Amino acid sequence: MATFTFQTQACCSQTRARAGVFSTPHGLVETPRFMPVGTLATVKGVTPDQLKATGAQMVLANTYHLHLQPGESLVAKAGGLHQFMRWDGPMLTDSGGFQVFSLSQLRTITDKGVTFRSPRDGRMIEITPERSIQIQNQLGADVIMAFDECPPYPATREEVEAATQRTYRWLERCIQAHQRSDQALFGIVQGGVFIDLRQKAAKDLVELDLPGYAIGGVSVGEPGELIDEIVRETAPFLPADKPRYLMGVGTYQEMVRAIASGIDLFDCVIPTRLARHGAVFVRGDRWNIKNNCFREDLAPLDAECPCYTCQNFSRAYLGHLWRCRELLVYTLLSIHNITELIRFTQKIRESILADRFTEEFGHWLN
Ligand code: GUN
Ligand code: ZN
Repeated sequence: MATFTFQTQACCSQTRARAGVFSTPHGLVETPRFMPVGTLATVKGVTPDQLKATGAQMVLANTYHLHLQPGESLVAKAGGLHQFMRWDGPMLTDSGGFQVFSLSQLRTITDKGVTFRSPRDGRMIEITPERSIQIQNQLGADVIMAFDECPPYPATREEVEAATQRTYRWLERCIQAHQRSDQALFGIVQGGVFIDLRQKAAKDLVELDLPGYAIGGVSVGEPGELIDEIVRETAPFLPADKPRYLMGVGTYQEMVRAIASGIDLFDCVIPTRLARHGAVFVRGDRWNIKNNCFREDLAPLDAECPCYTCQNFSRAYLGHLWRCRELLVYTLLSIHNITELIRFTQKIRESILADRFTEEFGHWLN
C-alpha cells in the first residue's frame, strides 16, 4: 500500500539539492519546503485559512505539549488533530523527546523512557517510546516521529554515543508499538557533532527501511559551521528515495546550505516567535517594526511579497499596531514571516526544477 510516496522531480547538477513531492493521506508536500510549527494544535495567532494562504503545506504539532494539555484522548474524541484544529492538509507530530529535554525539569532518563514533572500541575509523567507512539497514534498526524534522546551541546563523545545507541533501541520499540498504516514513522539521526557517530546512526536507521528520515540534535548551541558539516556528512547516508527532514532549522542560510546537502523539509518556530517580538524577515534580512524609521513609512513590508499583510498594510500601520499593543499585529507579522520563509524555500524549489540553484542561491553557500 503506497500511502506515502516520495518522488524526486529534479536534481541539481552541481550540489545534492533536489526537488520532490512527498505524498501523504492529507495531500502533497512539495519539497524543499519550510513547515510552520503549531505546537499546541495552533500556529500562534494564525487561523487555518490564513495559514493555507501562506503556502503552508505540512504543519507540525507537539506530542509533549498536547499530552500535557488537552490530552490525546480529547483530541482523538474530537476526531484527531486534523479535525480538532481544522487543518485538512498534511501534519507531523514531534515525539516529545526533544521537548522533554529542553522544557521540563527534574527529568530522569533510563532505558525505559523519560520521567519528568509536569510544568502545568507538578505531577510526574512518564513518556516511553511506546507511550509516545500511542499518543501520536491517537493524535493522528500523517507523519509521526520516533522518540529520541537529543544530547546537549557540548557533550562528551561517550555521552553522545550512549544517547545515540539509546535512540536506536528506542526506535526499534517505536516501530513495534506503531499501529497505524496511515501514519508514517520517521527515524531520527542523532550523534551530536561526531561525524562518525552520525554516519553510523544513519546507516543503522536505513537498515530499518523507514518511510522517511530526520536529522535531529542540531541547532542546540553548536556553531553554524558545525550544523553545515553535520548535515553535509550525514545526508548522503540517507536514502535518495525517501524524504529527509532537518529538525528545528529555519534560518535562510541554514536552509539553503542544508538543501544543497539534500535536505527536503524544515521546521522552526522562528517566524512566529520573532513576529511576537516585532521582528520581520524581509528579503533575506531581519528588521524590527518597532524601529522609528518605519513610523511614517507607508510602503508595505515587502512590495514583492504576496502575503495578506504586504498586500494590504503599510509599515507605518504595523508599527502603529505594535505601539498600541493591538493583537492584530501578531497575526499580521506572523502571516508575513511564515509566507516569507515558505516562499524562500519555494523559490529554491523552482530554481532546482530549472537547474539554476547555484546561479540563484550560490551566494548563500560560501
Ligand atoms: N526538534 C529539533 N531537534 C530535535 C531532535 O533532535 N529530536 C526531536 N524529537 N525533535 C527535535
Ligand atoms: Zn508579506
